[in-house]
Amino acid sequence: MKDFELMLAPMESHTGPEFRELCYKKGADSTFTEMARISGLAKRNKSTLEKIKIPKPIPTYIQLIGSDITDLNKFLQNFLPQKGFLGFNLNLGCSSPNMVQVGLGCALIKRISKVKKIIQTIQDYSHPASIKLRLGMNKFEKQKKVYLNLINEVDADFFIVHARDGKQTLKDPADFSVYNEIVKTNKIIIANGDIRTKEQVQYLNAIGIKGAMIGRAALKNPDIFNNLKQNGLFVKA
Ligand SMILES: Cc1cc2nc3c(=O)[nH]c(=O)nc-3n(C[C@H](O)[C@H](O)[C@H](O)COP(=O)(O)O)c2cc1C
Repeated sequence: MKDFELMLAPMESHTGPEFRELCYKKGADSTFTEMARISGLAKRNKSTLEKIKIPKPIPTYIQLIGSDITDLNKFLQNFLPQKGFLGFNLNLGCSSPNMVQVGLGCALIKRISKVKKIIQTIQDYSHPASIKLRLGMNKFEKQKKVYLNLINEVDADFFIVHARDGKQTLKDPADFSVYNEIVKTNKIIIANGDIRTKEQVQYLNAIGIKGAMIGRAALKNPDIFNNLKQNGLFVKA
């Protein structure tokens, strides 16, 4: 990982191999697949397996959603990394009702022992394992700082913090104020949510954040990565 990493966010129906390659060519340091259900991968479901393919050696994390350890083992026993594969990322951010109702996505943020088990299982196969999380399932969990408990207690390789709770829509502003306390965990933290400008990236770097993950702004303009890097990421243009 670079001193400060610029990542393309996983976005279902958008971040397939072509868009990941485009953003990599335009300066993204790493990219993420769309989320793939662990249960589908265990069953060797064709369309789910398609989602985790890395056809060209573009630096890519594979994002997983699920919690069943038996299924996870079934999948990992047969998994052969392709060139470009950087590790797995566990989705603890998805807030869509069909995931939350079955205890997945952001419903897992407070289930620390379960998350530990998932991350440990991936690491037991010698693959890096990171987490992408929201601040909680709702504002009450956010107030209780469930995200801090999780980050403190789980030994993931890094944590991408999407600074919203699970009830907020992407139209609600991301809450940058949480990062100051999160960096005190001394874990590797990547910020996500509403990041568009060099000033934001410089602020995040100054407080100890190790990277920025960019989603919708890259859909609008994939040049954003190179634009942010122009004249040096941390030299004011
Ligand atoms: C169309 C769309 C699809 C998304 N799919 C995923 C996904 O598969 N996995 C995930 O972790 N986040 C997903 N997200 C959330 C983004 O990764 C990101 O957290 C969110 O857009 C906030 O970042 P931004 O403000 O830079 O867009 C999706 C977002 C959008 C807009």
